[in-house]
Amino acid sequence: MQEPSQTYILSEISQTITFGRCIGALLQQTDLVLLSGGLGAGKTHLTKGIIAGMGSSDTVTSPTYIFINEYRLASRGVAFHVDLYRVEDSRELASIGLDDALMGHGACIIEWPERDPMLKNMPHLAITLTVQSDHTRLVTMQSHGPRATTLMAAINARWQNGAHA
Ligand SMILES: Nc1ncnc2c1ncn2[C@@H]1O[C@H](COP(=O)(O)OP(=O)(O)OP(=O)(O)O)[C@@H](O)[C@H]1O
Ligand SMILES: [Mg+2]
Repeated sequence: MQEPSQTYILSEISQTITFGRCIGALLQQTDLVLLSGGLGAGKTHLTKGIIAGMGSSDTVTSPTYIFINEYRLASRGVAFHVDLYRVEDSRELASIGLDDALMGHGACIIEWPERDPMLKNMPHLAITLTVQSDHTRLVTMQSHGPRATTLMAAINARWQNGAHA
């Protein structure tokens, strides 16, 4: 059976951040979000919104060189932002602390999840960003597991009910 999916157009950076905030407002500490899309597709900008929506006032920067950033949230523990782009091999992958981030002590948002073939086997919400034009991105969400299906429906309802306005 095809997993449920939703697609939206994000027509400027601010809309991508707002969409991220909408997701962040609904994430729980055991949620895993896998962010796919090419270089410059907008994954880090979406994450800025997600972390802000979860209640962190910290500035989100790309964790490209340190792989994992941890953000303290006002009310809900921590969230992890992971970027696997520069992971060279399975030995390095095993050394960066990803297992700890995936233990469910904080929501985990991962850029370049394709670098770890095991991730797609875990229950998760998959989000893919595609460049349409200079400022326009297509975003597709696909759920993998019942919690992600519930989460995706809640994001859709929140977005359609004016979170994007
Ligand atoms: N609607 C949009 N949403 C997000 N980014 C946009 C949008 N329109 C233009 N941009 C530009 O696209 C780029 C997105 O950069 P970002 O770092 O978020 O991408 P990324 O997917 O994380 O890339 P990487 O794979 O290199 O980490 C930025 O330069 C941003 O200004
Ligand atoms: Mg990035």
